[in-house]
Amino acid sequence: MISAGIVTVSYIAATILFILALGGLSNQETARRGNWYGIAGMAIALLATVLGVVTQHYALLLGALVIGGSVGLVLARRVQMTQMPELVAILHSLVGLAAVAVGFASFMDETKTYVGIEETIHNIEIYVGILIGAVTFSGSVIAFGKLSGRIGGKPLLLPARHWLNLILLLAAIWYGREFAIHAAGGGGGMFPLAIMTVIALAFGIHMVMAIGGADMPVVVSMLNSYSGWAASATGFMLSNDLLIVTGALVGSSGAILSYIMCRAMNRKFLNVIAGGFGTGGGSTAGGGEEDGEIVAIEAVETAELLAGAKQVMIVPGYGMAVAQAQHTVYEIVKTLRAKKVDVRFGIHPVAGRMPGHMNVLLAEAKVPYDIVFEMDEINEDFPDVDVSVVIGANDIVNPSAQEVPDSPIAGMPVLEVWKGATTIVLKRSMATGYAGVQNPLFFKDNTRMLFGDAKDSLDSVLKAL
Ligand code: TAP
Repeated sequence: MISAGIVTVSYIAATILFILALGGLSNQETARRGNWYGIAGMAIALLATVLGVVTQHYALLLGALVIGGSVGLVLARRVQMTQMPELVAILHSLVGLAAVAVGFASFMDETKTYVGIEETIHNIEIYVGILIGAVTFSGSVIAFGKLSGRIGGKPLLLPARHWLNLILLLAAIWYGREFAIHAAGGGGGMFPLAIMTVIALAFGIHMVMAIGGADMPVVVSMLNSYSGWAASATGFMLSNDLLIVTGALVGSSGAILSYIMCRAMNRKFLNVIAGGFGTGGGSTAGGGEEDGEIVAIEAVETAELLAGAKQVMIVPGYGMAVAQAQHTVYEIVKTLRAKKVDVRFGIHPVAGRMPGHMNVLLAEAKVPYDIVFEMDEINEDFPDVDVSVVIGANDIVNPSAQEVPDSPIAGMPVLEVWKGATTIVLKRSMATGYAGVQNPLFFKDNTRMLFGDAKDSLDSVLKAL
C-alpha cells in the first residue's frame, strides 16, 4: 500500500518517461532507449496503480493480470513480423472495448456520489467515452480483418454513404441529449446509451469498410489515434490523470502519424476518412501498359551488374519482410562496399505494412543508419544510380502513380527507380502488390526481373558475388 502522494509522484514520473519514450522513438539511433523509457514508465504506472489506487479485489485483479498477460505473451511470441500490423489493429480494438466496458460500469456504478453539474459532466464523459470506444473497437476489428486478408481490401461503397454517416452522427448527438436528460438524478438513460453504442459500432464498421486497400496505412495510424482518445476518455471516467495524459499522448501522436501517412500518400485526411479511395479504378486497375515484354535475369548476372556498378540503390518492400531477407541483403551490401561500390537504401514511408517497417528490419540486420535514406532525401538521385535493386516492393515503385490519373494509387509519391540505368526487381511472380494494381515498371526496357523468393535469390547473388 502506498499513499496518494506517492501515487501522484509516480504518475508524474511515468508521464515524463512516456514523453521521453515518444521523443526517443522519433529517431532510429535513440529508438531502443525510447522503448526502455516506455517500458519503465509503464512498469511504474502499473505498480503505482495496483499498490495505491486499487484498494480491494486483489484476487480478481491478479487473475485478470495473469490471464491478460499470458494471452499477450503467447500472441506476441507467436506473431510473425509480417503480421505485426494485424496484431496492432486487434490490440487497438481491445482499448476501445475496455473504454466501452468501463463506460457501462461507471454508468451502472451505484456508489458514485456525483450531483448536479458534476453528474452531468460525468455522464457526458461516459457517453463520449463509450462513443469513441465503440468506434475504435469495431473499426479496429474490421481493420484487423482487412490487414489479415480475412476481409477483401476493396472499399465498400454504399449508395449515399455520406448521408448515412451524417444520419448516424446526428442520431448519436440526439441520443446524447436524451441520455443527458434521462440519466440526470440517476434515473435512467440506459436505452439511449445502448442505442448510441450500436450506432457507434455500425459507424466504425462502415468507416473502415469504405476505405480502400492502398489507404490502409492511414487507417492503422488513425485507429491508433482513436485508441489513445478512448484511453483518455476512460481516464476521465475513472478520474485517473495518468490515463488521461497517456491517452492524449497516444491520441495526438497517432494523429500526427496519420498526417505524415496522408502526406506520404498525397491524400487529404478527410478524403481518406470519407472513404472510396483505392477502389481499383474499374478498368484502369491494371494501370495501363501491362502487356509489354518482361526480361528475366539470373542471380549470376545480377551479381555481375552489382559488382560493376558505382552506385547501387536498394529499395526494400513488403516482400523483403515476408522472405526475411534483410540479413542476406546486408551481407551483400558489405561485400559490395568492400569492392568500393556506393550502396544506399531508399525507404518509402509506407513500404511494408506498418510505419517504419523497413527501418525495423534493417536495424535488426544491423545495417548502419547512415546509408538508409528516406524517399524525399534520395528520390532525385536515381538518374545517377547504376543499379536499383527492388526487393519485394511493388506499389511504392509503381510509375502509374504518376502517369495514370485514375489509378487507385494516383498521386501517391513513389520512388522513381526507373530513372536509374538498370532496375532489378526481385519477386516471385507477376502478382500485384497491396493496392492490387499492375506495375508498368516491370515492362520497362531497363528493368530486369529476378524471379523467386527474395531470400533464395539474394543467397544466390551473394554466392555469385
Ligand atoms: P506491395 O506493393 O504489397 O508489394 C509487395 C511485393 O512483394 C508483392 O508484389 C509480392 O510479389 C512480393 N513478395 C511477397 N513475398 C515475397 C517473397 N517471399 N519474395 C519476394 N517477393 C515477395 O509492397 P510495398 O511496395 O512495400 O508497398 C506497400 C503497400 O502496402 C502500399 O500499397 C501501402 O499503401 C500498403 N500498406 C502499407 C502500410 C504501412 S503503414 N506501411 C499499411 C497497410 C498497407 P510476388 O507475390 O510476385 O512475390
